[in-house]
Amino acid sequence: MAVEVVQLRRRGWGETMRRDAWWVQPVVVFLVLTAFLVYATWAAFQNAHYEFGNYLSPFYSPLIFGDSASSWFGPKPAWWPALLPFSPALIILPFPAGFRFTCYYYRGAYYKAFWSDPPSCSVGEPRKGYRGESSFPLIVQNIHRYFLYFALIFIVFLAHDAWKAMWFTNPATGKAEFGIGIGTLLLTANVVLLGGYTLGCHSLRHLVGGYLDRLSSSPARKKAYDCASCLNRGHMNWAWTSLVMVATCDLYVRLLSMGVLSDWRLI
Ligand code: FES
Repeated sequence: MAVEVVQLRRRGWGETMRRDAWWVQPVVVFLVLTAFLVYATWAAFQNAHYEFGNYLSPFYSPLIFGDSASSWFGPKPAWWPALLPFSPALIILPFPAGFRFTCYYYRGAYYKAFWSDPPSCSVGEPRKGYRGESSFPLIVQNIHRYFLYFALIFIVFLAHDAWKAMWFTNPATGKAEFGIGIGTLLLTANVVLLGGYTLGCHSLRHLVGGYLDRLSSSPARKKAYDCASCLNRGHMNWAWTSLVMVATCDLYVRLLSMGVLSDWRLI
């Protein structure tokens, strides 16, 4: 039988036989992530307008140091480096930022969008070798599991912020009364979306469900694995909606604090 030897040719950057608009997704990811990074960095350096009444921006929560009366340990600490502008957000943001940056879903998305690695499935990429995530520098992404521990703690703080956002001081009596404003709804949606994102984390599934190479036989752990897997199926949606919501909450609190908006009370 005759055998024809076909020479495979490496595709050039962006070359593909795909006919669909494969480039739309990486472009959208690039634009949304860039917009978020620019806004979040700007907001984190402001050290102002992060609080309004019982609302606290999630970019500044927990408020460990700060000029606000609600900060845990008072104003700027003495050990803060003189060359770095002080902002309470800079103390805490490395943890949620590291959690997102090392997330399995975001890795796949920003590898494509920011450095075409590859631009999309079956589309030619700019480099010739493949070192993967088992060698430096991308092996560092394995730190994700440790960021997860911090992210779980942050969910508790954000849930507490949402709870606080339901109690408004009555100016006549000086007492806190239950109420719901637009800020309450936003801060509550924020913790729900971040909870869905965090509890569907790929690493959490393994953590609750089993061992290095097999699932646990414990019914409780199997159930926990199923719950995390269920959330994990929508991980991309949780990732984007929680990202947009956290920025929306900061912007809303900021605009209230600046006097640009007034909070609309439903109750
Ligand atoms: Fe996305 Fe862990 S895999 S948060």
